[in-house]
Amino acid sequence: MPRYVIRSMLLTDTAQVAAIERQVEYHPWSERQFQGSLEAGQRCTVIVDGEQVIGFCILQPVLDEANLLLMAIDPKFQGQGCGSALLEESLALLGDGCVMAFLEVRGSNTPAISLYQKVGFHQMGIRKNYYPADRAVFASGKEDAVLMALTRGNPFA
Ligand SMILES: CC(C)(COP(=O)(O)OP(=O)(O)OC[C@H]1O[C@@H](n2cnc3c(N)ncnc32)[C@H](O)[C@@H]1OP(=O)(O)O)[C@@H](O)C(=O)NCCC(=O)NCCS
Repeated sequence: MPRYVIRSMLLTDTAQVAAIERQVEYHPWSERQFQGSLEAGQRCTVIVDGEQVIGFCILQPVLDEANLLLMAIDPKFQGQGCGSALLEESLALLGDGCVMAFLEVRGSNTPAISLYQKVGFHQMGIRKNYYPADRAVFASGKEDAVLMALTRGNPFA
């Protein structure tokens, strides 16, 4: 994917980021929430094809750890390695001071769980009935979250 560039998200990117989010999420973040993430100092990255934002990643650093809050690739650009490249680079940009990363993901989200495993995350547990969900698919209107963690560097160094 030589023409794609991964860089920090700018306030001018948030409309395109929110447009991607609306395409992929059942309960999408608003543009204002993405602006809030930038203002709060969260580590927000985008992958771009020229002027077009084609994906984003939001990491929240907490001391020597980070939480992956959200990431997505525009459906037209999925399956080309953009998601794994974006996540690996976003984690690398956190630097060596970040020793662990955590995330929660819908149990039904096989593509994302496979991506996270490919990047090195492991399942830690399940949070029951965590996400609001479509009642046509989940009768309870809720879906479990899978909790995953990644250890970076040598934790015993
Ligand atoms: C999850 C997501 C970010 C993956 O992005 P992507 O650019 O398509 O992923 P990549 O092309 O880099 O694929 C990396 C790995 O992810 C997994 N993967 C990606 N798409 C998959 C699919 N449709 N089915 C199963 N595994 C898939 C594979 O393990 C793949 O590795 P491989 O190509 O060696 O098999 C993308 O599908 C997406 O934006 N989904 C909607 C939003 C979302 O679910 N975000 C995560 C929760 S916050």
